[in-house]
Amino acid sequence: MVEVSYDFGLVGLGVMGRNFILNVADKGFNAFGHDLDETKVKSLIEEGGNVNNVNASSNVTDFVNSLSTPRKIMLLVPAGKIVDSVVESILPHLDSGDILIDGGNSFFTDTDRREEYLKSKEIHFFGTGVSGGAKGARLGPSIMPGGSKEAYKMVQPIFEAVAAKFKGEPCVAYLGPKSAGNYVKMVHNGIEYGLMQLTSEIYDILKKLGGYSNSEIQELFASWNKGRLQSFLVNITADILTKKDEITRADLVDLILDKGKQKGTGKWTSQNAMDLGIPIPSIDIAVTMREISALKKERDTAAEIYSRPNLEQIAKSELAKRAEQSLFFGFIVTYAQGFHQLSEASKEYSYELNLSLIAKIWRAGCIIRASLLEDISSAYEKDSSLSHLLFNDVMAKQIKLTISDVRQTVALGIKNGVPLPGLTNSLTYFDSLTSKRLPMNIIQAQRDYFGSHTYERTDRDGIFHTHWEE
Ligand code: 6PG
Repeated sequence: MVEVSYDFGLVGLGVMGRNFILNVADKGFNAFGHDLDETKVKSLIEEGGNVNNVNASSNVTDFVNSLSTPRKIMLLVPAGKIVDSVVESILPHLDSGDILIDGGNSFFTDTDRREEYLKSKEIHFFGTGVSGGAKGARLGPSIMPGGSKEAYKMVQPIFEAVAAKFKGEPCVAYLGPKSAGNYVKMVHNGIEYGLMQLTSEIYDILKKLGGYSNSEIQELFASWNKGRLQSFLVNITADILTKKDEITRADLVDLILDKGKQKGTGKWTSQNAMDLGIPIPSIDIAVTMREISALKKERDTAAEIYSRPNLEQIAKSELAKRAEQSLFFGFIVTYAQGFHQLSEASKEYSYELNLSLIAKIWRAGCIIRASLLEDISSAYEKDSSLSHLLFNDVMAKQIKLTISDVRQTVALGIKNGVPLPGLTNSLTYFDSLTSKRLPMNIIQAQRDYFGSHTYERTDRDGIFHTHWEE
């Protein structure tokens, strides 16, 4: 054992954990890793190169004793029961005031429970969202910590050093008490689902109705990525379209099975939005589409039974313009729904979220980074009590310029049987939100008719019930 007191401990030396700890070490902190798997321990020590700077052990006592106090220990292990068992394995070795950071995608109520439990043991617990995948962990992720504000000060220098930088500003900030960090990361992932769904739909319509080849779509996406759609997801989609399969030399994207998988964070976002009563249909449909896509057998059967309309062909330049406008519209609406959910959750769970700050720390490092976040951050900076992003004048101006093309794109999809559910749901959400009168009068009347559920009136205050049947 080397006689060094290490600044930072990390449990779970999988790809994310190993990359994160190497990032910490690169920034000049001495970091110590722990994993029960001896091969992972050895490979970290080899990769770290200098044991005074990066060391590791499969022995929990050695690990904990190597850390300077108050200890700062981050867990990068799969969300769920494993987090509880890792906490239990470390807990007997900790001292009062030590800090445990859960960097996985834990469900926010689990974080609340763990924080309460560990508070009773005088241990600070941070539920911390980390976004950016394996590369982000190594080179600079966006970090979303929540927990005790006081204790955050002790991890702040490390987090600020390792986080991605946007024009020199670190993409990390204390977000709020309890599970605020995990909650914000959950909604980040919901938005991620929505943006991914929209991107895939635009690729699909360009291919089917514009006759675009993969390399032409790649060029288009790459050019959009230089404009207002600049974002990690548009950028990687362009990259993906250039990749050749090593064996067949065909475009790899054409060989990938169209069955979506998911780990659950998008679904949690939708479920919780329903609990809060906040509509986020652009995100809901993205979850649903992963589910529909997974019904591959059923889709094959249905495709045999039902014929599809003949596809019309649209001039490339016309379609490209509409597609860009539509994707931009969809992006704005999806972010708007996510931020709406965050603002409601902030009240419901007393997180006191700063929405402008959240948009700021998403500008680099994370999966949903996009130039649009600069405008979103400014919108909430200008008016921290903005009740909906679409009420901001800059956003409204942008939306107004896109809307006619969005309608054309959705109409084309419907007419030709090309499913554009993310875009269609975003447009329907927009049309409903901007409707002074919705046909909910009929639903209220129906409820009152069959269940005496009562209704309110437009011309008088109060609660009313009618005997509908003679
Ligand atoms: C990130 C990602 C990451 C997430 C993957 C996979 O911010 O780095 O959100 O946390 O795990 O995107 O999510 P699904 O398997 O649910 O698509």
